[in-house]
Amino acid sequence: MKLQQRAVIVTGAGSGIGRAICLEMAKEGARVVVADIQQAGCDETVRLVREAGGEAIAVRVDVTEATQIEAMVDAAIQAYGRIDVVCNNAGIGGAALPALEASEDMWDRVMNVNVKSMFMVCRRVIPHMLRNGGGTIINTSSASGFIASPAGCDYTASKHAILGLTKQLAYEYGQKGIRVNAICPGVIETALTKDVAVDGGPFEQLTMNAPAGRYGQPEEVAKAAVFLASDDASFMHGAAVRVDGGSTVY
Ligand SMILES: NC(=O)c1ccc[n+]([C@@H]2O[C@H](COP(=O)([O-])OP(=O)(O)OC[C@H]3O[C@@H](n4cnc5c(N)ncnc54)[C@H](O)[C@@H]3O)[C@@H](O)[C@H]2O)c1
Repeated sequence: MKLQQRAVIVTGAGSGIGRAICLEMAKEGARVVVADIQQAGCDETVRLVREAGGEAIAVRVDVTEATQIEAMVDAAIQAYGRIDVVCNNAGIGGAALPALEASEDMWDRVMNVNVKSMFMVCRRVIPHMLRNGGGTIINTSSASGFIASPAGCDYTASKHAILGLTKQLAYEYGQKGIRVNAICPGVIETALTKDVAVDGGPFEQLTMNAPAGRYGQPEEVAKAAVFLASDDASFMHGAAVRVDGGSTVY
C-alpha cells in the first residue's frame, strides 16, 4: 500500500474526479477527509470508501470561505492528528463564452473557486505539514492550463494560474519537505462535463482527434494523483502532469 495511514484531504470530493481520488487513495491505505460544498455528495463518497474497506469522514466546506477552510483543517487534525496530503480539486466551469460576452461576476467566481481557494487552503495546511516534517499537495489544473479552448477565458485563465501557484509553492517549500504538483486532466466524463462531453459537443474535436481518441474516466486521473501523493514521486516538484489522452500534444 503506497499511502498507508497517510491523512489526506480531498476537496471537490463529492463527485467526479475528487470522489475517484478518495477511492483510489483509500485503496492504498490513506485515511480520507472527503470535503465538498455538497453534503450529500460527501456522504455518498464516504459510503463508497467505507464499503470498499477504507477510512473516511465527510466535511462540508465552501472552499471560498476562510472560516470553513479552517473548520475543514481542524476536522482533519481532530480525526487523524495530522495532514500528509492535500488534493485541491474543487472547481467549477465558467460560462464558456467569448471574452466580450463573459461577465466580470463570473470571472471573479471562477477565479475564487478554482484558484484563490487553493491559495487559502495551502496557507492553512502548510504550517501543519511543516510541523510534521513534510507533506504533499496536488492541485487539479486542466488541459486548459496549457491551451485555449471553448472552455472560455475565465476557466482557461484560472487553470493556467493554478500551474503558476503550484510552481511557486514548490519553489518556496520543496526544501522544507513539501512537494507540490498539479494534475491536468483532459475532458473527463463527470458531472462538470455531462452536457459537453458528448457527440457534437464543443470538445469533441479536441478529444477525438487526440491520440487516445476518447473521453477520459475519473479513475484514470485519480491514479495519477495517487502516484504524485506517494513516495514513488519523491523527485517530483512543481510538475504539471497531463492526464489528457494527448489532447495537448499539438
Ligand atoms: N471533468 C473534466 O473534464 C475536467 C477536466 C479538467 C479539469 N477538471 C477539474 O477537475 C476538478 C474536478 O472536476 P470534476 O470534473 O470532477 O467535476 P464535478 O462537478 O464532478 O466535481 C467538482 C466538485 O467540486 C465541488 N465544488 C464546487 N464548488 C465548490 C466550493 N466552492 N467548495 C467546495 N466544493 C466545491 C462540487 O460540489 C463538485 O462535487 C475541477 O477542478 C475541474 O476544473 C475537470
